[in-house]
This record gives sequence, C-alpha cells and structure tokens, in this order.
Amino acid sequence: MRPEFIGHYTEFMDDDNSTYPGSDELLAIGSAVGKKLGLQKIGIHIETLYPGRRTSWPHAESTEEEFAFVIEGNPSAWIDGNLYPLRPGDFVAFPSGTGITHTFINNSNHTARLLVGGERPKSDNRIYYPLNESQNQVRRERGDFWDDIPLKTQGPHDGIPDLQKNGRPATWNLPVLETKRLILRPFEMSDAPAVFEYAKNPNVSRLLIWEPHKTLADSQGFIKFIHQTYLDNVPTFGICLKENPEKVIGSVGAMWVSQKNKIMELGVALGEDYWGRALSSEAMLRLVEFLWQRYDVLRIQSQCKAENVQSKRMMEKMGMTYEGLLKKNLFCKGTSWDMEMFSFTRN
Ligand SMILES: CC(C)(COP(=O)(O)OP(=O)(O)OC[C@H]1O[C@@H](n2cnc3c(N)ncnc32)[C@H](O)[C@@H]1OP(=O)(O)O)[C@@H](O)C(=O)NCCC(=O)NCCS
Repeated sequence: MRPEFIGHYTEFMDDDNSTYPGSDELLAIGSAVGKKLGLQKIGIHIETLYPGRRTSWPHAESTEEEFAFVIEGNPSAWIDGNLYPLRPGDFVAFPSGTGITHTFINNSNHTARLLVGGERPKSDNRIYYPLNESQNQVRRERGDFWDDIPLKTQGPHDGIPDLQKNGRPATWNLPVLETKRLILRPFEMSDAPAVFEYAKNPNVSRLLIWEPHKTLADSQGFIKFIHQTYLDNVPTFGICLKENPEKVIGSVGAMWVSQKNKIMELGVALGEDYWGRALSSEAMLRLVEFLWQRYDVLRIQSQCKAENVQSKRMMEKMGMTYEGLLKKNLFCKGTSWDMEMFSFTRN
C-alpha cells in the first residue's frame, strides 16, 4: 500500500465542465495533484488539453509566479499575441511581475498534457486579461484588477483556438479519445477520401441501413451530415489507429433514441481490412465510457440485423446484455429485418 502522498493524476481529474462565468467554452480538464496530495505552498496541476481548447483566456498575474511543462502532445504557448509551438519537454516560465500575458492553446489533432504549477493564491495578486474586457470588469469588481501592468506590444493572434474559428460552431466540443491502440476524433472534411475507401466496399454496409458510397461526394455528404449533428452534440468519432492518426479507418458513434427516456444507441463500422482484431469493441467501449461521463443517459443499446453474426459476437464480447430478437423491427432496403438487441444500463 502506497503512502497517501503518492497518487496518479487520473484519480483526481475534474469533470469536463470548466468554463468562465457566462461562457460555454470548455477549457482544459485539470487535475489538482498538488492540493490532493497535500502540498500547501505551491499549486501543481496536470492539465489535459483537448484539440480546439485552451487552458484559460489570455491573462497575466502580478505577483504569483507560474510555469508550464509539456508532458505530451503539441500545444502552443500564446504569449503577448504571438503563438509559439511547443513539444514534449518544453518548459515555459512566467516570472512574477513581468506582465507576460499568456495561455496555452491546442491547435493540433491530438490531446496535449501539461504540468502547470505556481504559487498558491496570494492576497496581493492582481490579474489582467488583454482580450477579455468582461473578465477585467469582473476583476475590477473583485478588487484584483491589475491596472498598472507593464504591458508589452501585443502581437496579432486573437488567442482563439483554430477549431473554434473556421466557421466551426461553438458547440463543436467533441474531444479526442484514446484507447490502447486507437485514437477516436471528430471527423474533418479532409477525411472524405479515407471514408470513401472503406464505405465503398459493399461488404461493410451489406447488413447495415446505408448503401455503399458510389462517389467521393457520398463520403463528403456523410461528413457534412456528421458536422450538422455535432451542432446537437451527437458524438460520432472517426476511428484511427494510433500509428496512423491521420487516416480514418471507420466510425463509431451514438445517437439519442429518446432523450426523454435517457436512451442512446451505438453504431460502428470498420474498414474490412481491419476486421478480426477486436478494434471495434475497443472503440465502442471507450465511447460508452465517454457517454456515461458526458451525457444524461441511463440505457445504451445496440442492435444489429439477425444475420450479422460478426456484430452480434462483438457485442457479446463487449459484455453487453443480450435482450432478445425483435422480429420485423426494421423495414429497410425493401424488406423487414429481425433485429438482435443488446444493452448496457447505468447502475
Ligand atoms: C461488426 C464489426 C464492427 C466487428 O468489428 P471487428 O473489430 O472485426 O470485431 P472483432 O474483431 O471483435 O470480431 C467479431 C467477430 O467477427 C468475426 N470476424 C472477424 N473477422 C472477420 C472477417 N474478416 N470476416 C468475417 N468474420 C469475421 C468473428 O466471428 C469475430 O468473433 P471471434 O473473435 O469470436 O472470432 C465489423 O465487422 C464491421 O465493421 N462490420 C460492418 C459494419 C457492421 O456490421 N457494423 C455493426 C453494426 S451494429
């Protein structure tokens, strides 16, 4: 048994709901390892920074010294209006009183992790936000606005992560998920050729409700549709192997069957070249974990055509409860389909 001052950061991770008051922009997910393990004088956090997120709004602190160390991924340091790409091992120091305005932005496609530390809150500390006047006003009202900051010339960068620009909806907040072998990430329009590669194969959709894609435009249309559903927070991820995270080899997602009754349904499809390695169940189980965390759902179901023995076997191996055969439960492609029903329920 380890002493109580040793711990793993994942044990202390906050919920993914960190925002500024009045804003729905999700920030990094913190894990207050220092505080949780008993440190009194310094604050140490491990920040998990999903693509398209930032650790905070750009700001500077007058008396509290801060630093950041990149553990994993490629975030960028936003410093006084300029972006500086970082890599694992980079260390960034913000000596107190210098007035360096800063934040960390993840413009990459992969999760970044930072160790961020600093002095515990000091009563004389004051804060300045170069780009968020509303926050300066909050600070003025609280009496800790840094009004005489030695401001440097600010560069041109607006401090907004790329994924929040480019016409992306503000609700685009799907994270990138990881498993042992896979990366699950939001679809990009540039994924269309990779989607076409697997979706044109009739074997993939033979027992599903959709038809094989005939042209690249079909795959572009699919991604466009998925992007629309992101507006409603419908989570559909592209499945990528960790060794080639640029190439989507399938998709996994969940849709509401009934929000009122708190029921969602899973769906998955994988390129035929990747069948037989239990990759789909690995992706599905990670998605299920994400759904339990992020959605107000009590039942997660999955059904497949009775003839789809591969899918049935996959759901059995995932540990889903088999609930039975629903006769003629779907009319599709000109006939009635008997459907096998499986579920997970929240305890
Ligand atoms: C169903 C599907 C998602 C399973 O994914 P997978 O990652 O291959 O799953 P698994 O590796 O766990 O294999 C499940 C079963 O499929 C069968 N299987 C595996 N590879 C196969 C192959 N190349 N050809 C035929 N059957 C195969 C095996 O019976 C296996 O069970 P086993 O491990 O006990 O032998 C995948 O085959 C697929 O995308 N099919 C087309 C779309 C689809 O049917 N989606 C499910 C909708 S609910």
